[in-house]
Amino acid sequence: MSAVYDHCFKTAIRLTTEVGKLIKTRINSAKTIESKSSEIDFVTETDKEVEKILINGLSSEFPDHKFVGEESTSEGKTQKVTLTNDPTWVIDPVDGTLNFVHGFPQVCVSIALLVDKEPEIGIIYNPVLEQMFTARRGHGAFWNDQPIKASKTEDMSKALVSFEFGCSRDPEKMQFVRENVEILFPKVHGLRSLGSAALDMAMVACGGSDAYMESGIHAWDMAAGDLIIREAGGVVMDPAGGFSLPCFCFITAFRKSGPFDVLSRRVLCAGTEKLARQLTKALKQYYPPRDDEN
Ligand code: IPD
Repeated sequence: MSAVYDHCFKTAIRLTTEVGKLIKTRINSAKTIESKSSEIDFVTETDKEVEKILINGLSSEFPDHKFVGEESTSEGKTQKVTLTNDPTWVIDPVDGTLNFVHGFPQVCVSIALLVDKEPEIGIIYNPVLEQMFTARRGHGAFWNDQPIKASKTEDMSKALVSFEFGCSRDPEKMQFVRENVEILFPKVHGLRSLGSAALDMAMVACGGSDAYMESGIHAWDMAAGDLIIREAGGVVMDPAGGFSLPCFCFITAFRKSGPFDVLSRRVLCAGTEKLARQLTKALKQYYPPRDDEN
């Protein structure tokens, strides 16, 4: 199987690098912008083009593989995601689209290959800052080919925490965000918001931040980051608790009973389980409709 995943990984890196050039060239140009679920949930022609290049390139190499792509999902009549046990590429062509629209350089391509619903490959690539984060299950996590480790911070009072505002204008969601910012702000070293869930997760993986949480994101925002963080020794869990251990060979058994669920639209990740547990106790919860619901 390893040779098959080698081929998958190399192909995904080649295509990610190729579309990265497009994103980098266009970040400071005028864009054609459309709105999706809210007036600030944007899609540009580049999001759509990048997703097509990735899906066409991957499906010509792996004709039996399935795809869950942000833009193909939102272009369909329903936003419902169907995830089977088949090898499935979960793709966010431009994570941080609002940043991309403004020319703010925290943008990335996020790609994960899930097999039996478990991540085998995770790639997060910021082409503007030339940051390539990668992981393969059981092989560790890397930033531009250098091994990375999540932080060892265990206490909230010493933690740099990232937290996204999201692009929903739903009053309940906005209230949840306000309350959690009020809770966290006086208790942590600092709060950050990169505007890209995948890059927030990459920062937890490399120890640049100690934790990140968001409710209201989608499978394509967090599938790659989930593996990269766990391969870097961090924990990924549902914001209300439950966790996935770093990747041992028996991880599948834990993950099946573990509450982190890539379709749940909820994630909390941290360098250590102790910090993650502290955060789950402190935070308010928000439960958006799941990715596999209408
Ligand atoms: C968004 C970003 C943002 C997060 C939103 C996502 P997109 O993804 O990851 O940080 O707060 O919830 O939708 O739309 O730029 O791919």
